[in-house]
Amino acid sequence: MVQRELKHVVVREHVRSLLDGAEPGTPAPSERELVSQFKVARMTVRQALDALVAEGLLERMPGRGTFVARPRRRPAQLTSFTEDMRRRGLTADSRTLLARIEKAGPGVARALEVEPNSPVVHWKRLRRAGGATMCLEDAYLNEALLPGFLASGLPSSLYDALQGRRLRPTWAEDAIQADVASVEEADLLGLEPGQPVLRLARRALCGDRVVQVSRSTYRSDRFTLHVQLGEATA
Ligand code: GLP
Repeated sequence: MVQRELKHVVVREHVRSLLDGAEPGTPAPSERELVSQFKVARMTVRQALDALVAEGLLERMPGRGTFVARPRRRPAQLTSFTEDMRRRGLTADSRTLLARIEKAGPGVARALEVEPNSPVVHWKRLRRAGGATMCLEDAYLNEALLPGFLASGLPSSLYDALQGRRLRPTWAEDAIQADVASVEEADLLGLEPGQPVLRLARRALCGDRVVQVSRSTYRSDRFTLHVQLGEATA
């Protein structure tokens, strides 16, 4: 038993070193070649190749053989406003309109998964990119996870600050809606009331903890939402 385990590891590592740095699509040695080269059972060879397929180094093409796999693409990243704007070549900055501790109302409590009336940080910012007003962001954070958040001075990037506390969201639920600006929003965003806006509501979690819920209202004439779907092919 020990013998067979060792053999498949030997075969696996041989194939790995043989294909080290090879272009995607390079054929792996066939099972038959490996069987005769290592004088092992076909099952041992299959076990070695299976492990490399599971690792993502190789991929099987039915009827054609086994090849060096294309690198797996990472799914779309959960990005902050600062990062979204940087990708567009713009520098983000913000003006804080409100930052205080409040008691969670029923809707915010439900979304943050805290008891109603629990302390939450309410932070409202007018967000600009390249000097132009882009969005109005209204966010609530679970204060219990972020003790002293307001006292430590407001950061320019919330996600950077959360990263510093090992609470950067790892996943989120977004809801996107077309709407028109209210009188207050229009005033802050430099629009006329009734002009179109794009609303983006996010519930951001770090693992299984809801860190933040937010509503962002974007000027739809300045902001395009880019979404990556599925896996990109090479
Ligand atoms: C996005 C999210 C917001 C989040 C913000 C953080 O815009 N929709 O919910 O608050 O990013 O951005 P930053 O780290 O630049 O403050």
